[in-house]
Amino acid sequence: MDRRRRAVEVAAAAAAVMVLLLLPIVPAGGARRDWGFHPPSSFVGYTEPNTKPDIRNSGQSFVFNYTLAKAIVEYASAVYMTDLTALYTWTCSRCNDLTRGFEVTCIIVDVQNCLQAFVGVDPNLNAIIVAIRGTQENSIQNWIKDLIWKQVNLNYPNMPNAKVHIGFYSSYNNTLLRPAITNAVRKARKLHGDCDIIVTGHSMGGAIASFCVLDLAISFGSDNVHLMSFGQPRVGNAAFASYFAKYVPKTIRMTHERDIVPHLPPYFFFLPQLTYRHFPREVWEHDVDGNTTFQVCDGSGEDPNCSRSVFVLFWSASDHLTYMGVKIEADDWSTCRIVMGQSVEQLGMSLASNIATSGHSVDVVIADHSVQVD
Ligand SMILES: *[C@@H]1O[C@H](CO)[C@@H](O)[C@H](O)[C@H]1NC(C)=O
Ligand SMILES: *[C@@H]1O[C@H](CO)[C@@H](O)[C@H](O)[C@H]1NC(C)=O
Ligand SMILES: *[C@@H]1O[C@H](CO)[C@@H](O)[C@H](O)[C@H]1NC(C)=O
Ligand SMILES: *[C@@H]1O[C@H](CO)[C@@H](O)[C@H](O)[C@H]1NC(C)=O
Repeated sequence: MDRRRRAVEVAAAAAAVMVLLLLPIVPAGGARRDWGFHPPSSFVGYTEPNTKPDIRNSGQSFVFNYTLAKAIVEYASAVYMTDLTALYTWTCSRCNDLTRGFEVTCIIVDVQNCLQAFVGVDPNLNAIIVAIRGTQENSIQNWIKDLIWKQVNLNYPNMPNAKVHIGFYSSYNNTLLRPAITNAVRKARKLHGDCDIIVTGHSMGGAIASFCVLDLAISFGSDNVHLMSFGQPRVGNAAFASYFAKYVPKTIRMTHERDIVPHLPPYFFFLPQLTYRHFPREVWEHDVDGNTTFQVCDGSGEDPNCSRSVFVLFWSASDHLTYMGVKIEADDWSTCRIVMGQSVEQLGMSLASNIATSGHSVDVVIADHSVQVD
């Protein structure tokens, strides 16, 4: 056992060295091609049931809905916006297009941990939307380097053998996010009935969204609960992935072309019990002969023909920042410092006076001294 653990560490170190060598040469964006959209006609669908015994697949045929995914990526992008007033009035520069008419019911800001989320109701989709932003401090490159070293080191409660990374889990469980989101969803359901709950997030926000959606599925039942994450890292081991697939079968994990983040922390197929493993279902946005396609991957979570087919030396940080043509990154990398710059009381007061003049009620939950997470 110890020797195998050692092997994981050595392999992780090797992968780390490769990625560290790689990062400086990753193009910083700008040279990206213009993604044309060729929706439904260009779908490539794989709907084969899972071939790996440790992941249960519901077996239902799987349909990727382009319009729905486009609306959700817009939410995942909007939650990065720093102007909270523009967010809760839904007037921010990213708050239009397919998400028009969205009614924010709760905005959550955890200053200390640099976390932000909102909950609201989309009348067009007839769904409660939960969007979570990640902790990316001020440099996505540093955050990516950090990902290589993460180990599965926490037993997920009430799921034998399921292990996850404690930092990702704590960002949801031990901060304001868990109670505030659960409460906001409960409240929205009281008003809107048993409508769908769609949880989304990008990058670290996608990792947190995974824990959030699992928690909501356990509380509210799996039928109405959906996850659509964008460029999320792996969060747990194979046992965790199989529980996840059972509790949240309505999951789409979007990956984009050569995005590096879904490759991390590393997956070692030769060490199935010790390594991280993605849950299904990946949908890989990639270019085929100049056409953007959305490849629905197999039910294993680690389809070798989807983003895993990209060789390590081609992994890219810039492909992490655009999904479905939508820019999905912070509008200001120093966000957390800015929020900290003005006192939380000040922020709260200014928001409160704005809320009083807006039409509907919005809960704003702000904390500046929650538990520190890694
Ligand atoms: C895709 O989603 C949109 C928005 O929810 C919906 O209006 C449309 O009917 C869906 N299309 C299919 C084929 O399910
Ligand atoms: C998760 O949160 C619950 C409730 O706050 C707490 O009792 C538990 O210890 C937390 N789990 C971890 C692993 O921190
Ligand atoms: C790409 O799009 C062009 C024009 O729409 C089409 O003729 C071609 O067959 C497509 N290629 C693939 C691989 O789908
Ligand atoms: C991957 O693609 C190859 C050829 O395109 C095919 O033979 C193989 O069955 C595919 N594997 C999976 C797991 O889909």
